[in-house]
Amino acid sequence: MFAICTTGKGDGTVELRQVDVPKIGPKEMLVKVVTAAQNPADWKASGQQQGVKVVGCDYAGIVTQLGDGVTEEVEVGDRIAGMVPGLEMNGAFAEYTAAPSHMFFKLPDSLSFEDASQLGIACYTTCQCLYQSQDLPSPENPTTTPIDILVWGGSSSVGHFVIQVAKLGGMRVIATASPRHFDRLKKLGADEVFDYRDPEVTKKIRASANGKLKHAVDCISEGSTPQLISDSLSPEGGTVSAILEYETVRPEVKVVFSLGYYLFGKPLGDFTPTTGMTDFGTTSSKLISKLLAEGKIVPAPLKIYPNGLADVPEGLEFMKSGKVSGEKIVYRIADTPGVQT
Ligand SMILES: NC(=O)c1ccc[n+]([C@@H]2O[C@H](COP(=O)([O-])OP(=O)(O)OC[C@H]3O[C@@H](n4cnc5c(N)ncnc54)[C@H](OP(=O)(O)O)[C@@H]3O)[C@@H](O)[C@H]2O)c1
Repeated sequence: MFAICTTGKGDGTVELRQVDVPKIGPKEMLVKVVTAAQNPADWKASGQQQGVKVVGCDYAGIVTQLGDGVTEEVEVGDRIAGMVPGLEMNGAFAEYTAAPSHMFFKLPDSLSFEDASQLGIACYTTCQCLYQSQDLPSPENPTTTPIDILVWGGSSSVGHFVIQVAKLGGMRVIATASPRHFDRLKKLGADEVFDYRDPEVTKKIRASANGKLKHAVDCISEGSTPQLISDSLSPEGGTVSAILEYETVRPEVKVVFSLGYYLFGKPLGDFTPTTGMTDFGTTSSKLISKLLAEGKIVPAPLKIYPNGLADVPEGLEFMKSGKVSGEKIVYRIADTPGVQT
């Protein structure tokens, strides 16, 4: 099959190659990938990779084979989307991927593969930020007492879904973004949106929450955001869900880091998997599948490259240079020159 692979030079370069279709193991599904979406993890992790490995984490496609021990409600022929641990031999930027059977969403017929490919990392990370790093009200048990939550980086891929799911949990959502995204984020459920470049932004957020803000999700987690979020929280402090690891800048503020990869239940660096992680992955899969079936969450705007996987090197450079703004980069596998449909 065709796949985008690291070159083995360890410098982050990738290229279109022909590799074997992955073999599935227990609790895995073989998926014919129709579309794949790009994440910052793809260029970041490619740069650390010494071997030749298939890149990409987010896929949407059709189940073609089930491995032993798959107990989830899924059948050959189902339309699904999800997340795979890219840069193993089962990355998503490929004609086929081997996907863990606890980490997928069933797709309603109304949702295109193009839109669905963006769900994987962003939706699992959303669940982690709201329900693993913090214990916030979920759409299944929404709060009736208004609770403010700050979503810093509301126009990012992760922020797009955090806003929607937090709102469905009954929370009052305060977001930050560039002004061109304000209207769109309000339609998603943000009650107020502030420009993160405004020198008065933390003052405005504090005023919006009457100085009582206790919860935040840092969808950027670098540069000035740890300080600005900390400054926005109440004098008593609060909790921030972070998606890149950092130390708190205020003792009263607790920063809790999560990584989508943990939900695969595989070791990573200092991380030792627990069953709690795969169980959380399963619960998150069910919640997001339900919200999709009910039409309660909507996808972000797309930037679709015309030549499928052949355009991934260009897409990765575009993202690496910080040009992505409120849209998700997506590739249709069938657009790749040489791929037989
Ligand atoms: N822990 C995990 O599992 C996990 C999962 C996903 C992502 N991440 C990490 O999270 C980061 C974001 O990923 P992503 O895919 O969501 O990003 P993305 O969609 O590519 O991010 C682009 C967006 O970030 C916004 N932005 C940039 N700097 C900002 C700032 N200082 N304040 C507020 N907004 C800002 C931009 O907003 P405007 O266009 O409005 O200016 C733009 O819309 C990356 O570093 C990624 O590696 C971690």
